[in-house]
Amino acid sequence: MTALGKLLRTTVFKLSLVYLVVFAIGAGLVLMRVGMNVKDLFDDQIDQTVEAEIAGLAEQYRQGGIRRLVETVERRVSQPGSSLYLVTTFAGERIAGNVAQLPAGVLERPGLIETRYARTGEIVAPHRALARIFLLQGGFRLLVGRDLEDREALRGFMLRALFTSLGWLVLIGTAGGIFVAMRVLRRVDAMSASAQTIMSGDLSQRLPRTGSGDELDRLATSLNAMLERIGELMKGMQEVSDNIAHDLKTPLTRLRNGVDEALRNARSPDDYRACLEKVVDESEGLIRVFNALLMIARLESGVAQDAMQDFDVAEVARDVAELYDAVAEEQGVTLTLDADASLMMRGGRELIGQALANLVDNAIKYGAPVEGSAQEKIVKISARRIGEHIELIVCDRGPGVAAQDRARVLERFVRLEGSRSRPGSGLGLSLATAVARMHHGALRLDDNAPGLRVTLELPASAGEALR
Ligand SMILES: Nc1ncnc2c1ncn2[C@@H]1O[C@H](COP(=O)(O)OP(=O)(O)O)[C@@H](O)[C@H]1O
Ligand SMILES: [Mg+2]
Repeated sequence: MTALGKLLRTTVFKLSLVYLVVFAIGAGLVLMRVGMNVKDLFDDQIDQTVEAEIAGLAEQYRQGGIRRLVETVERRVSQPGSSLYLVTTFAGERIAGNVAQLPAGVLERPGLIETRYARTGEIVAPHRALARIFLLQGGFRLLVGRDLEDREALRGFMLRALFTSLGWLVLIGTAGGIFVAMRVLRRVDAMSASAQTIMSGDLSQRLPRTGSGDELDRLATSLNAMLERIGELMKGMQEVSDNIAHDLKTPLTRLRNGVDEALRNARSPDDYRACLEKVVDESEGLIRVFNALLMIARLESGVAQDAMQDFDVAEVARDVAELYDAVAEEQGVTLTLDADASLMMRGGRELIGQALANLVDNAIKYGAPVEGSAQEKIVKISARRIGEHIELIVCDRGPGVAAQDRARVLERFVRLEGSRSRPGSGLGLSLATAVARMHHGALRLDDNAPGLRVTLELPASAGEALR
């Protein structure tokens, strides 16, 4: 597209044109109205003077008869000017005056009239006049008028002024439109140039702003905020893939080394069997990690594909408690449940069950009282409604999590010192957090003094917001 073509296609230019046309029509109408008013004013004035003159002449006639009238008219005719006079007999024969010719029938109509006429000495009737015809006593007719040349000249002048000003208007308007369009175009070009650079890979670039706070600036601000967010997401993705690369490398290496060793050293089918069993174990662990990662990613991307349903959270809590009963007993942990009779909410039943299971699992795994303390091994689960929320709380009496680590442990693959000897991949709390967020709730870690208290807070009406 040529530069001019681009310019003429801008919205700004098109808008300028529309305004221009509307404005020109408006200005034309106003000028026309003014012109008409001027004409009326002109005519009024002529009419008034003509009438006064007729009154004067009629008076002369009354006092001195036709002779005096003719004398006066002839005297006035001899003076230069645009005044017109005509005295005729009843039959219309000219007695005195400077009007030679009038269209037929004009003299028969007393009153104000606009007509063509010819002066004495001329043959055709090229001029226009505004005249009054007066019937004198005795059957004579008197015409007094004014030539309209001045008025026509003024009209022509006004028309010319109208067209010249419209011409200028169009010229200046178009130039203004082009100027404004050029400025806008320059900024839009700058913005798309930046967008090109950003697309070609430099995500740190931002769209230029002038600081004027106009609509383009606001657009640039919004787009920049969007770029910021995209940048953050990309950074998050980068972290996740780094984490995956790092955290899955260890089990994969272990897997490979195990197989390698078996190939080199195994002597009997039993040796091979033992090795294969280890491989299966490791692979299952890997699959679990992958599944957890995929689920977190799915939840965080906001595509909640799990069927939303109305269900009883208290029942879920009871199921989880029952599920972990045996494990707790094995570890010598007393698992207690304190749940309201019924806690209906709308959401993903399986997801919330999984999140709660992760918390209970952690409490049993990491919640053993510190050596030497007089605490009992107790893990408490409670499920209650607090106002508009349902709170699922898991408390233990273990070492807890230091305040500065409470945000960090929610991240993927983060496991604190001293927990590494236990089985796990550091995804349990990440998943619980993702589930909470998906339901527009939150996961909070607090000090249980001693121990950790984890609260999964869910809006009872979460399902409505998700739908
Ligand atoms: N109840 C708890 N008491 C003490 N530390 C905990 C508790 N729950 C979680 N943690 C810490 O948070 C880390 C992350 O937990 P999680 O995401 O469930 O991963 P994992 O259980 O696989 O280690 C744990 O490794 C542990 O260090
Ligand atoms: Mg865990």
